[in-house]
Amino acid sequence: MTAAGFPGFVAQWAERVEDALRALLPPASEAPTRLHEAMHYALFPGGKRLRPMLALLACQATGGDPANALRAAAAIECLHTYSLVHDDLPCMDDDDLRRGRPTCHKVFGEALALLAGDGLLTVAFEGVASAGAQAVVALARGAGSLGMVGGQVEDLAAEGDPSGHTLARVQWIHDHKTGALITASLLVGAHAAAGPEGAPLAVVDLLTRYGDLLGRAFQIADDCLDLTGTAAELGKNPLADLALGKLTWPAMVGLEASRKAARAMADEAKALAPRVVAAARDWHGGDVRMLDGATLLLQDAATYAVERRR
Ligand code: IPE
Ligand code: IPE
Ligand code: MG
Ligand code: MG
Ligand code: MG
Repeated sequence: MTAAGFPGFVAQWAERVEDALRALLPPASEAPTRLHEAMHYALFPGGKRLRPMLALLACQATGGDPANALRAAAAIECLHTYSLVHDDLPCMDDDDLRRGRPTCHKVFGEALALLAGDGLLTVAFEGVASAGAQAVVALARGAGSLGMVGGQVEDLAAEGDPSGHTLARVQWIHDHKTGALITASLLVGAHAAAGPEGAPLAVVDLLTRYGDLLGRAFQIADDCLDLTGTAAELGKNPLADLALGKLTWPAMVGLEASRKAARAMADEAKALAPRVVAAARDWHGGDVRMLDGATLLLQDAATYAVERRR
């Protein structure tokens, strides 16, 4: 039996996302081979592939054919994977397990891991160009100093002693280090559904609000899983945040209140889903086959973001 809802959507597109990733990346046999091996090592086997799936889903939910967003979706996964490779470096979170295997720098050394990350970041912009200039802008903003990189800086600055911080500061860090790229993934998908002028503002605004809530919920779940998951489930070492004194949601308010907050945010995102699809219908002027079922898929993705076990 095929799975329904967001897991069904993921199952439907999983193989084509892997194909798109392989098509975007230089082969591991290409010189310099150690560099390309390190890039492949970080990417395959993957994790959840959430961001490319969100890009494909947003493309469908805004009236496009997800097949047209595959290359751009793969690009986002390359960028996300770069962020993980760098996040694991000794100068950052100093982790030795990722996606169920030793981290990139443990296998290839720090210099190559750094450069493999650079390579993944750069090739991402080659790939996202397939979705048009607005998609490139959305990804650059989500990933850069005003987005993910900025969030990572503040995550590190807040490390050590979680006391004396505010929930507003945790939320700012989450919005930037995680939410910005999740929202960018959705926007890239919407722009892929449009012509060169990109998706209209009404669609972009609603998708941004949906993505920001999804991103918050997703990172709170990540913080909670650090406390409750096993290495086998997560593919990364649990209790890592605790060991580093990371400023996390559970460090501020405890596990139960964190879970409740994540569910509330996911519920808010779900409430926006019909409005995203309605804005897409307005844009295209009437019935679009791709929009059938999109509301439920967007809602199910929000549920998945908080209920996931890995
Ligand atoms: C991990 O992202 C980093 C965060 C922003 C929490 P994922 O949980 O999506 O990691 P993968 O891609 O599945 O490995
Ligand atoms: C990382 O957040 C966000 C990124 C930009 C990579 P975390 O540091 O919590 O991610 P994990 O737990 O190592 O996957
Ligand atoms: Mg980190
Ligand atoms: Mg980390
Ligand atoms: Mg984490």
